[in-house]
Amino acid sequence: PEPALDVFPSATIAPVSPLIFSGFLEHLGRCIYGGILPAGHTNFPYTPRNPCSEDQFIETPKELLTEEGFRKDVLEVLRDELGTPMVRWPGGNYVSSYKWKDGIGSLEERKRRPELAWGGEESNLFGTDEFIAWCRVARIEPYVVLNMGTGTLEEALHWIEYCNGAGDTYYANLRRKNTGKDEPHNVKYWGLGNEVWGEWQVGQQTASAYATKARQWAHAIRLIDPTVKLVGCGETGLNHWDGVVLDELVDKVDLHSIHLYTGFGPRDRSQIDKEYGRAVYGPDAAEYSIEICKGLINKARVAKTISKPITIAFDEYGVWDETVGTPENGLEQFYNLADALAMASWLNVFVRQADIVEMACIAQSVNVISPLITSPTGLFRQTIYWPLYLFSRYMRGGVSIRVSLLSPTFAGETLPQWVSSVKGQPKDLDASAVLHTSETGQKSVRIAVVNRSEHSAYTVPVRIAFVSAPKEVKAHELWHEDVKEQNGWGKENEVSVKTKRAAWTGKWTFREHSFTLLVLDVV
Ligand code: AHR
Repeated sequence: PEPALDVFPSATIAPVSPLIFSGFLEHLGRCIYGGILPAGHTNFPYTPRNPCSEDQFIETPKELLTEEGFRKDVLEVLRDELGTPMVRWPGGNYVSSYKWKDGIGSLEERKRRPELAWGGEESNLFGTDEFIAWCRVARIEPYVVLNMGTGTLEEALHWIEYCNGAGDTYYANLRRKNTGKDEPHNVKYWGLGNEVWGEWQVGQQTASAYATKARQWAHAIRLIDPTVKLVGCGETGLNHWDGVVLDELVDKVDLHSIHLYTGFGPRDRSQIDKEYGRAVYGPDAAEYSIEICKGLINKARVAKTISKPITIAFDEYGVWDETVGTPENGLEQFYNLADALAMASWLNVFVRQADIVEMACIAQSVNVISPLITSPTGLFRQTIYWPLYLFSRYMRGGVSIRVSLLSPTFAGETLPQWVSSVKGQPKDLDASAVLHTSETGQKSVRIAVVNRSEHSAYTVPVRIAFVSAPKEVKAHELWHEDVKEQNGWGKENEVSVKTKRAAWTGKWTFREHSFTLLVLDVV
């Protein structure tokens, strides 16, 4: 069909949850040690692909650190540029053998341990109190995942008491002693395990065994702190696991987690033209997962007559090619413009599904399959940083509204068979929109459009229903003539956003392989 985009400001879906711009920090590669703390703490034996990291043991100069000893640059990007509202920690796979008590008290007391998820050793120099201290400086809400692999319920209860206890009890007092402050850490969001379904997980379980255990844990956790929000461990949202776990846990949890990465197993980077489709159109599978998961949630709610809404925590998503970002290199992957288009499509999905997706955590926030890559003395922003930046800046605070899109479709192989056989071929154009009201009452419609076609530009009529025609448009565009182009050391801004203002004519040309965010003031 001829492309056309209709936007309906009066057809509201739901406010966009600010938590969809959340992050994830795992003890893996150079995420914590090298990303949050200076590189000198790196204790993970791997071969980094980061060309600057031969000098990873160079001391980071003091002026580049906060007074608490955290990297200032990473913290400032996450806080001041991306406005990251929440961060998930300490894993990921790492959490399934994490002993939180090894990571508290004086640094000399910390226990160095074998690290089972990714190999190597863990120094435990960054533990609960350091994480909370970092969150406070970064003005980020903590989200802590419990160890349901080697960990016991008793250890989990001790951890929650340590973080949130306000009484005169042993672990609350131990926290006061360690931090020198009376104030609890007040961790509201807790995850009931990570990917417990996975064969790579320490402590893998069947769905029904997990559900029974998670019910017991949730019950006990709410006795120690009834104010917490609990995230049940889901799979990809549409698996047998998700159905079983939701049926059992729906009355015990607040959110159900989904994990999915664009890439769907090994891709062949040498054949990037062939792989383009899978990379760029892949996030359509996430939308399918969310739609089915929403059905499973509501089915479980109906069965148990639960009126409280249960939402989705998409607490690991991103662009990950497992042949490139490997455990050996600490999952350091360098992204091109095609990957950034996928990132924009991911975010379109979360905005369109605003009525059910409460939280989304990009995996991960620094160095590990991340928009940010550090050296001991600096950082650069990868291509995938820019969609996250634009969405966080312009779609946050808005109410998601319906869009109707006519678009040519992509003919090649794209999604996993199980998605394309049901959903059909994906559209070249992908869009979401919000209605935003500023503090002064100015309303604007913000439309995010990814043109995923590698070679075709489209001039698209953009009709905004039932508002008087806007006079002007502000357009932010991410584009480069070479869709394989990357940013890197020495070419930090090769792929970045250009902004222009233009008179609004009711249509827009979206260049081939581009991401555009249009801001239109309306009355
Ligand atoms: O983000 C990398 C890993 O991917 C996480 O540790 C795990 O939960 C997932 O499989």
